[in-house]
Amino acid sequence: MQLIDGKLTSKEVRQEIAAEVEIIKKAGGKIPHLSAILVGHDGGSESYVAGKMKACEEVGFKSSLIRFEDDVTEEVLLNKVQELNEDPDIDGFIVQLPLPKHISEEKVTDSIDPRKDVDGFHPQNLGRMVIGSPAFISATPQGIMELLKRYEIETSGKHCVVIGRSNIVGRPMSILLSQKGYPGDATVTVCHSRTKNLKEICLSADIIVAAIGSPEFLKAEMVKEGAVVIDVGTTRVEAPDTKRGWRLKGDVKFDEVAPKCSYITPVPGGVGPMTITSLILNTLKSAKKEIYK
Ligand code: GUN
Repeated sequence: MQLIDGKLTSKEVRQEIAAEVEIIKKAGGKIPHLSAILVGHDGGSESYVAGKMKACEEVGFKSSLIRFEDDVTEEVLLNKVQELNEDPDIDGFIVQLPLPKHISEEKVTDSIDPRKDVDGFHPQNLGRMVIGSPAFISATPQGIMELLKRYEIETSGKHCVVIGRSNIVGRPMSILLSQKGYPGDATVTVCHSRTKNLKEICLSADIIVAAIGSPEFLKAEMVKEGAVVIDVGTTRVEAPDTKRGWRLKGDVKFDEVAPKCSYITPVPGGVGPMTITSLILNTLKSAKKEIYK
């Protein structure tokens, strides 16, 4: 069994990005700039956004954080999005989700210029991904594809079972794995809460992507010997013995599943560290006009 080390891979990718930024700087080019809009003071969102800003600093990007209180109106937020759409210095920006209930996340997401949508949430980017055109791919699926590539995991002709059909993980994952070329060309089954015979389907999988959001859902009896298991789960469970009072639990019962696997991602330290790195990579791609020429 080989552990897929997302922390190490993430560090390597960030070093590669930092090296590119150095070259851009030396040539007198424009420094990539990522901006983030954060509404309110939710602890999880605060720490995610702080991680994104810190990553920018680490690779030599410019970053800016725009904050609003919880009671900001939709109109004010949409005006700010428009301002960022039109600001030539900003290569990409994100609006951290979730938003307060009185603001339509759909409206906000749709109002972001797809050329600056480094989260890859805009329907135009999702549509482009579906037809195999260059697109910003959302952070988690892109991070997983990068891990499969860097660990040279064969996907062609393999049976991949994706558990979960969310718009930001399960659904895009299923599309990317079935696309032409590497890491794709797989036969993909998407499973969800209404799936019958889940255990049997999982047992026939060469690769399982568990994105259910249910701690330790995937048990050893559901995994074939030699399978590759990618764990997307990041549920905070109470842990009074820790300083924070919680620890992250994946969707995979790691201790019993790992010995059966050829490769497995741990939680924490697997998919998680790759997500912010993917956002940074998208910002670089945007600055270099790699997606929208
Ligand atoms: N909230 C949780 N994850 C994300 C993400 O990847 N992007 C944004 N914008 N909000 C999030």
